[in-house]
Amino acid sequence: MSFSPTPSTPPEGSQKIALATASRNGQSLASVARGGALTMLTDPRSPAAEAYRSLAANLQFSYADRQMQAIGVTSAAAGEGKSTTVANLAIALAEGGRRVIVIDADLRRPSLHTLFGVERQEGLSNLLGGDQLQLPLIDTASPGVRLLAGGPVPANPLDVLASRRFDQALSLARAQADFVLVDTAPAGVLADAAVLAPRLDGMLLVVSAGRTKRDLARRAREQLERVNANLLGVVLTDVRGDDKLYRY
Ligand SMILES: Nc1ncnc2c1ncn2[C@@H]1O[C@H](COP(=O)(O)OP(=O)(O)OP(=O)(O)O)[C@@H](O)[C@H]1O
Ligand SMILES: [Mg+2]
Repeated sequence: MSFSPTPSTPPEGSQKIALATASRNGQSLASVARGGALTMLTDPRSPAAEAYRSLAANLQFSYADRQMQAIGVTSAAAGEGKSTTVANLAIALAEGGRRVIVIDADLRRPSLHTLFGVERQEGLSNLLGGDQLQLPLIDTASPGVRLLAGGPVPANPLDVLASRRFDQALSLARAQADFVLVDTAPAGVLADAAVLAPRLDGMLLVVSAGRTKRDLARRAREQLERVNANLLGVVLTDVRGDDKLYRY
């Protein structure tokens, strides 16, 4: 896959539909082979790992001249690969020498602590009540990647995400990292990602080749467009090895 910022050739069949409805310009930034978990660490030579590296390079080269530091990752529905994308992209960026902070802003179902295999300690939701000015960052197995976990599930996640406290946390994270990756709840069904998007530099939309429903993908895109999110493009996950799209 090339790192060209120009739109790639539209994929075939259902993937074409998924991409066209999910992304304004149909731009695919990466297509990740079937896999999951921390491929970047467990199978660093796999095609999926290469796809995450490609995505990392794509982000860095395409936006070298613009502020593209805090990037949100969302998808239309649950289980399409948001958290997996966030974690592996973070590792790929760190591999290239970047300092990365990953924020688990999917406060309803935080999962990055599990993915990174760290104890679920305090996190984002703790910041709201307290007057803590230090982020409770957790080191991960990947040097260069630190995690701000979700923390205990709050009564109203939207309040946490919309709060000035969250903005402060984001500023602190920006000051301590080259990239801040923000995992979110599904944008097709919940407002969380739309609340976050205007405060981030860009959003990636994860589309699952096998699972994403066209209507929901469109709704997610519309939600984000309504708040003027900077939609960077689509990350296609769960791509079969024999798909025409999937070529290196
Ligand atoms: N490229 C991929 N190919 C196949 N399966 C994948 C891929 N990426 C992630 N998965 C799997 O899909 C499932 C959901 O992944 P993940 O938790 O990252 O999705 P999510 O969008 O964050 O879900 P949720 O909305 O529940 O937070 C997991 O079992 C994960 O291993
Ligand atoms: Mg998730």
